[in-house]
Amino acid sequence: MKKLVVLTGAGISAESGLKTFRDSDGLWEGYDINEVATPEGWRKNPALVQEFYNMRRKAVVEAEPNAAHYALAELQQYFDVVIITQNIDNLHEKAGSNKVIHLHGIITKSQSSLDPNLTYDIEGYEIKMGEKCEKGSQLRPHVVWFGEAVPMIEPAARECSEADLFAVVGTSLQVYPAAGLIDFVPYESPKFLVDPNTPYVSGNIKTIKEKASVGLPLLVELLLQENGG
Ligand code: APR
Repeated sequence: MKKLVVLTGAGISAESGLKTFRDSDGLWEGYDINEVATPEGWRKNPALVQEFYNMRRKAVVEAEPNAAHYALAELQQYFDVVIITQNIDNLHEKAGSNKVIHLHGIITKSQSSLDPNLTYDIEGYEIKMGEKCEKGSQLRPHVVWFGEAVPMIEPAARECSEADLFAVVGTSLQVYPAAGLIDFVPYESPKFLVDPNTPYVSGNIKTIKEKASVGLPLLVELLLQENGG
């Protein structure tokens, strides 16, 4: 089976009701990144950070996958599909995708603020101040904040280097190292982009200028036509 690697961003979950970051009315219009998505912000006001993620976690728990997530899950019948997502929601998993690499962590888990290797599933949608890990430190969201290491970037780059086919869906490609993953994809591997806008991508890429719920089913058709699905 050919390996299809798909890099996804907030745009794929937009039609599931989850806000993107940089579109109009995006998350970064209402919040200061430094206050809610950095280790400094956590040190200064952990309760504010907790509240920011509790609010987002509630939306994630209540959200359902959309046609785009399901289209990627369907492609698993025809390709070895590896999803590399910048999203911290679990909609790819809810839709049935089995190989998902979360570059920026996942909001449905908490982690020790002392030892990032200590992670826990979250019942419901809140992490409360005072909830501690087994080493006695405050639990925080299991997400990668700006300025923190991205431990999954190496396995993600390896997957991209082995991609026979590559697609980018719903990301402005503004944030590194995620945005640099396309450079690991072999030159000769066909590349596709699904986005209603046109984020800059260098090199030869076929663009489907549609929102994800329309563009992904079209991409499925294209891939099956071109690869005898
Ligand atoms: N379908 C497909 N794409 C869409 C849709 C949609 N319905 N709506 C918006 N988009 C596209 C936008 O055109 C844009 O290219 O999704 C992209 C959203 O870009 P961002 O808001 O920057 O989100 P993303 O690229 O995922 O951000 C990357 O930045 O703040 C950090 O950690 C955060 O993982 C996030 C990272």
